[in-house]
Amino acid sequence: MTLARELKIGEIDQRLYASFIEHLGRAVYGGIFEPGHPCADEDGFRTDVIELVKELKVPVVRYPGGNFVSGYNWEDGVGPIESRPKRLDLAWGTTEPNTFGTNEFMKWCRKADTDCMMAVNLGTRGAEEARNLVEYMNHPGGSAWSDLRIAHGFSNPWNVKLWCLGNEMDGRWQMGAKTAVEYGRLANEASKLMKWTDGSIETVLCGSSSRNSPTFGEWEAQSLDIAYDNIDYVSLHQYYENRSGDTMSFLAKTLEMDEFIHSVLCVCDYIKAKKRSKKTVHLSFDEWNVWYHSDHVPYERWSMAPPRLEDIYYFEDALLVGAMLITLLRHCDRIKIACLAQLVNVIAPIFTETGGGVFKQTIFYPFAHVSHFGRGVALQPILECPRYDCKEFTDVPYIESIATLDEETDSLTVFAVNKSPDETAQLSVNLLDFTGYTPTAFTSMDGYAKDAVNGFDASPVVPHTNPLPTMDGSVMTALLKPFSWNVIQLKKKI
Ligand code: AHR
Repeated sequence: MTLARELKIGEIDQRLYASFIEHLGRAVYGGIFEPGHPCADEDGFRTDVIELVKELKVPVVRYPGGNFVSGYNWEDGVGPIESRPKRLDLAWGTTEPNTFGTNEFMKWCRKADTDCMMAVNLGTRGAEEARNLVEYMNHPGGSAWSDLRIAHGFSNPWNVKLWCLGNEMDGRWQMGAKTAVEYGRLANEASKLMKWTDGSIETVLCGSSSRNSPTFGEWEAQSLDIAYDNIDYVSLHQYYENRSGDTMSFLAKTLEMDEFIHSVLCVCDYIKAKKRSKKTVHLSFDEWNVWYHSDHVPYERWSMAPPRLEDIYYFEDALLVGAMLITLLRHCDRIKIACLAQLVNVIAPIFTETGGGVFKQTIFYPFAHVSHFGRGVALQPILECPRYDCKEFTDVPYIESIATLDEETDSLTVFAVNKSPDETAQLSVNLLDFTGYTPTAFTSMDGYAKDAVNGFDASPVVPHTNPLPTMDGSVMTALLKPFSWNVIQLKKKI
């Protein structure tokens, strides 16, 4: 493998390591918010969870949905708690108590060292309610909505910069689902009014709910054609599963993810060309993860915060999550935002027991590694390696890798997944113009059964430290174990 500064893909926007909290299951209630819990602070926020969120270094958290937002009245979640209504949430068949809302979330963000990516309801509501929320949150004062925020005890505006124009509006499961033209027109008008209210915000147009959506491609083209001038990003959502137990196909899903990203970029640039526009629309991959383990878990309809989507992640899921992070970095010139969906309990790296403890899922670690060390610019290595065929794909490289260079700290990091179930790979890296760089740490996750999991009682699936890779002139050699996630850190010697 060869690494050189000229192989730069682009600057890494730190929002690539964003995540997501939805009013769904125990993400909010029993997750980030649990008054009365021994670890709860004066606001009812679980400090044990906040510590882990900080450990993940998540710069932005999308909120409050997801499907939930398409029926949400944001006004229900602000003001005196005693007068907030309980509502039936038709997205998830539960009852929303509204004891946690916009201001609580913003307070939580401040404590968790993160920022908010706010979604507005374009399912059952429209441009007016959306722009009212921008005024409530971002206008300093002297207007009805901003004065209401002040009356609610928040004299300073929250200054939320990133706004999602609804959620998965193409999906038949979505409250207020729309055709691409209906949505394009609504999103365009909503974004226009929201930006007239606060000219400093950026907005995200909903792309298809996944690459498998029947209208994929056409949806992006039609809605973008209408809203291009008033929006900044197009969203992508994708979850992968391994229901059939075919791990080699599962680990190859990043080929499909690459194709997905490429296709959406082609549509964005087609509309740019058609409009002869100078503006480039970038991507917000605002839902991605593995999701399937919790399929068919029953819950009590209309109950409050029942356990939903509580996937317990296998070791092999951590490998795919690592490979998905590499894929996002490979496109960091055009993907500016990406949200691991979600953050706590609901398909999440952090898992709590209501009233009890917390543990780190297997997928916590690759995310934390990339979010800590994947800073600066991404470099695309030139990599030759053996390939395999499997049921769903052909010509899949066994090794997936990317490097990041942080010029401020003179740190170079190589991330790599070895997808081979039985072969150790010898990774030789020619560090062409990185004179003076030497390895300082080599961390990996390997040696676990594919279905090994972490839990409250035992968390065996953790990274471990390896002997440092060897150097011979400018060539660094590291051994990547079968089924492994690897992080090699190098620093310039002073
Ligand atoms: O993240 C869970 C759900 O997946 C979200 O609510 C929705 O946007 C997607 O379908």
